[in-house]
Amino acid sequence: KLPAAVRIVEMGPRDGLQNEKQLVSTDTKVELVRRLERAGLKAIETTSFVSPKWVPQMGDNSEVLTRVLAAAAPGVAYPVLTPNLKGFEAALAAGAREVAVFGAASESFSQKNINCSIAESLERFRPVTEAAHAAGVKVRGYVSCVVGCPYEGAVAPQAVADVAATLMEMGCYEVSLGDTIGVGTPAGIVRMLEAVAKRVPVEKLAGHYHDTYGMAVANVFASLQMGVAVFDASVGGLGGCPYAAGASGNVATEDVVWLLNGLGIETGIDLDALVDTAAWISAQLDREPASRVARAVLAK
Ligand code: HMG
Ligand code: MG
Repeated sequence: KLPAAVRIVEMGPRDGLQNEKQLVSTDTKVELVRRLERAGLKAIETTSFVSPKWVPQMGDNSEVLTRVLAAAAPGVAYPVLTPNLKGFEAALAAGAREVAVFGAASESFSQKNINCSIAESLERFRPVTEAAHAAGVKVRGYVSCVVGCPYEGAVAPQAVADVAATLMEMGCYEVSLGDTIGVGTPAGIVRMLEAVAKRVPVEKLAGHYHDTYGMAVANVFASLQMGVAVFDASVGGLGGCPYAAGASGNVATEDVVWLLNGLGIETGIDLDALVDTAAWISAQLDREPASRVARAVLAK
């Protein structure tokens, strides 16, 4: 049985923009969030509090979050990435009410992305979750490379389940499962979800699928059939991870909304406003929207 409603966590301002070579202005980032709010998104990952030496595009994190929160829309969550206590403290100072820690199921990716082993990363996340909970801040968890790793190839479902279970045990309210390089196909996604669901209730899982090989919508559908009801997606299909060369953006939010509309599953999102936002941000970045749904709707 498919879920009656799905929660979409919009990744555009963070996963979408983090890999852009040209610096996107703070004004454009804030305006993107405002347009996403108007399209009905209720969770918008706004920026990341990582090292500006590692990810220069997110170097205006405090200003973006402060400006976004100064005119926060009612009922909208604005999570931000925080890899360590330093990032958490900066996020808290800018007013964050929700943060995310991000680990990986592959050792090589963990080293390249956050410069430490999986075990070390989990030890860094523990004080972040403790400080967050003490401050009444919600914490989401991510696991990257849930199907494949750009450096190691196939990843064992059991490795994903172990990291996901540890993140839950630390008090994350939800764990988002990242097919960072978009190599997953439905059979592999289902095997992975079956392993993770033995350790973490499926209601606590989110799918975070990159669309490198065009399989992300199929993977969303396979996950819906497994009972997953939260998906991360990026308007216009923007993005990619700086530590996963060649990987393209998250599944486009408008592609997911089109799928869900067709299934009669509630999202609260206005498809036309979303497609207009995809067109607007793509124009800001001097390109056509990557998603099939945006192109089709705009051609009408
Ligand atoms: P490190 O170099 O090991 O950190 O980096 P360190 O603790 O040794 O500190 C070194 C320097 O960084 C120091 O500055 C610190 O102050 C500074 P210095 O003394 O040299 O001037 N520093 C920081 N500055 C700002 N904010 C911070 C921070 N922490 C330390 N939070 C670190 C470790 C994690 C910081 C680094 O590796 C990093 O920033 N990595 C970037 C990771 C990233 O943003 N990746 C992309 C997002 S994850 C993703 O896209 C996957 C996801 O979408 C899911 C999926 O698709 O799978 C979530
Ligand atoms: Mg990602």
